[in-house]
Amino acid sequence: MTTARPPIAMLAELTHRCPLSCPYCSNPIEMARQETELATQDWARVFAEAADLGVLQLHLSGGEPATRRDLETLVRAAREAGLYTNLITSGIGLTERRLDALDQAGLDHVQLSLQGTTPEMADEIGGYRGGFKRKMQVAEWIGAIGFPLTLNAVLHRRNLHQLPRAIEMAVEMGARRIEVATVQFHGWALKNRDALMPTREQAAEATRIVQEARLRLKGTLVIDYVPADYHSDYPKRCMGGWGSTGLNVTPDGQVLPCHAAQTIPHLSFDNVRDKPLSEIWYEGAAFNAYRGTDWMPEPCASCERKTVDFGGCRCQAMALAGDPAATDPVCIKSPHHVDLQARAEAHAAADGAALVYRAAPGKAPEPAE
Ligand code: SF4
Ligand code: FES
Repeated sequence: MTTARPPIAMLAELTHRCPLSCPYCSNPIEMARQETELATQDWARVFAEAADLGVLQLHLSGGEPATRRDLETLVRAAREAGLYTNLITSGIGLTERRLDALDQAGLDHVQLSLQGTTPEMADEIGGYRGGFKRKMQVAEWIGAIGFPLTLNAVLHRRNLHQLPRAIEMAVEMGARRIEVATVQFHGWALKNRDALMPTREQAAEATRIVQEARLRLKGTLVIDYVPADYHSDYPKRCMGGWGSTGLNVTPDGQVLPCHAAQTIPHLSFDNVRDKPLSEIWYEGAAFNAYRGTDWMPEPCASCERKTVDFGGCRCQAMALAGDPAATDPVCIKSPHHVDLQARAEAHAAADGAALVYRAAPGKAPEPAE
């Protein structure tokens, strides 16, 4: 068994419930039902176990975490455990009063998602009329309270032209960081490759814009960037390496090495209801399946980049090559690489493809206050 170090970060998927229905949602096709969600005291225990294990940062995510009525209690429990808390939210479901309560509870940081830079684009992509207006209001409240803010923009063929404006908005909002992530195709997103795949030219232009903005905004805004995977020659270092820096806990308590790990059929996952988190992290079969480099076949096994990207993404290898141990097909050394690039071009050329939403598009309620 590979010797593992403690994880740095834990993603707590508090619920899969969400008012938005983004076509690139990375949550599993089969979502956890509300009645199976961990209770408040279960989460509080898991946060304490995570802190004991060595976790420093807790990302409270979903679905939409604000859907949980006990969010403030959960934040307080996480702070009492000594964790740095980051709320990953669409903003829908947050009121000024609720944000104040989260501040009182000790929330450290907010990460606000951006589906587009105009109401037309954002509401169409999120499948939620009035969502953009609501989000802009929430951004103002976040600024007034003084939470450190990160904007999180998922970009794809339909909205990549809005990247310069997204960066401007981050500066205007006083955000310290923007995560510019070209859409990753996991879970529901795989159904929308025809509608969302960027063109090769768009992908190259996005890289140029990010490079220019990083120089121009040095000291003002940090820009994290996930380039368009399918158009790249080398894969991303997914999760920083499997079972090396982070873990995910699903709404019903399963502990995953990454958010898409349930797409790998031969893996079985431990549950925080049954075992302590440290036992799951160090001894769990799923965490040890692809930890380190011993599991790698060729060409990864003898590759000079094997500790740079750890063979890419296991879930992508499963989805595209049908084998989670295969070299990520994004890699130029993969036998699937040429085929993948051809498929990417075909998806990107599928003009007029309709978005497939997770649920029927809805409408934002009027602000409660
Ligand atoms: Fe990374 Fe494997 Fe490709 Fe080498 S062969 S660059 S280790 S994915
Ligand atoms: Fe699972 Fe990349 S998303 S390893």
